[in-house]
Amino acid sequence: MTDIKKGLVGVVVDETAVSKVDPETNSLLYRGYPVQELAATQPFEAVAHLLWHGELPTDDELATLRAEERRHRALAPEVKAVIDLVPTAAHPMDEVRTAVSALGAAELGGLSAVASGGTAEQNLDRSLRLFAALPAIVAYGQRRRRGLEAIPPRDDLDYAANLLWMTFGEEPHPVVVDAFNRSMILYAEHSFNASTFTARVVTSTLSDLYSAVTAAIGALKGPLHGGANEAVLDIFDEIGEASNVVPWLDDALAQKRKIMGFGHRVYKRGDSRVPTMRAALESLVAHYDRPEVLELYTALETEFVNRKGIYPNLDYPSGPAYSLIGFDTLTFTPLFVAARVTGWTAHIMEQAASNALIRPLSAYTGPAQRRVPGYEPDE
Ligand code: SDX
Repeated sequence: MTDIKKGLVGVVVDETAVSKVDPETNSLLYRGYPVQELAATQPFEAVAHLLWHGELPTDDELATLRAEERRHRALAPEVKAVIDLVPTAAHPMDEVRTAVSALGAAELGGLSAVASGGTAEQNLDRSLRLFAALPAIVAYGQRRRRGLEAIPPRDDLDYAANLLWMTFGEEPHPVVVDAFNRSMILYAEHSFNASTFTARVVTSTLSDLYSAVTAAIGALKGPLHGGANEAVLDIFDEIGEASNVVPWLDDALAQKRKIMGFGHRVYKRGDSRVPTMRAALESLVAHYDRPEVLELYTALETEFVNRKGIYPNLDYPSGPAYSLIGFDTLTFTPLFVAARVTGWTAHIMEQAASNALIRPLSAYTGPAQRRVPGYEPDE
């Protein structure tokens, strides 16, 4: 009997030097650094450099990266035109994926099909340009759904503050910038999750980086993966307030509903990133004076963990945090893309550097071989 590993549960398919997820120690390392320490001390730009190059940047390297990011952060007219073709009723992840495809078509258009796979240097340049372009794409997505015009970037603001500026058009408060920056670092990378593995599969055929990223966006869109943080807010809206948690959970579990923001394929005793993101949420609850948000958050977590022994994942604290900042729930997963594009592109470059076509086997369970009616074999 073939030993089938459905969902590749527990299967190690390759090596990676990008990050280590360790459920035994409940830890997450980016190129050897604990993510909690990075979130407490680094700007998101420095973590992007770490994931791409394997080391934290020197001051000069960070200054160079920031200068490059500023060169590419404006919403390109041809990308805005493509986004404006997407109905505002469409899922924002389809809008983001269309925008990334347009960026790819614009850059690859002049290259031969063979060259589009890209050299290591070309892919590093493409990674930085996507990193720089996505904040404007995500910010404009929320504004167009509200019938508002795009806001141009500000050169006096670094990455996190500028994304907030382009979304809300207000001077971002340092408490909000810090909480948001931490969330982007926590969302940046997580080894062979479904969307990253998708990017590696596409890269393994020697396709191009933009195609691998758009495929990863398609995988991340699903509610079992990236789409969960949107669903956490829908759950909070359904429950309303902490006193409604018990009856709501009775009903949800009776219907065998998956409680979004809880559970994880790898972490079985809690997601290593949650304490850091919960602290960021608490700072926002204090800043906006919204204690009821934390009351509901804690009531649902306590009740569900006590009943099912299933712990929150990163999407659980990030949902209410993004909502307090003012992001629409439909903007949550595009924000996940803006962060995870750093991890995806680091894996794309790693896969391309020592490539092996990813092509698993399958166990056939269909009908035994049989003759097509009317077929007469040659004598
Ligand atoms: C992300 O892989 C990554 O690293 C992903 C990610 C990243 O950074 O890239 O961490 C980001 O995707 C986080 C996960 C976001 N998704 C959700 O919050 C959706 C809700 N979670 C579940 O669908 C589930 O926990 C998964 C998909 C996350 C993990 O599922 P597994 O490992 O395949 O486990 P399972 O679905 O087989 O669950 C085992 C049991 C089942 O019960 P039985 O059928 O055996 O009785 O636990 C139950 C499940 O029903 N269960 C849940 C549950 N999660 C698991 N029951 C209710 N609600 C849940 N959330």
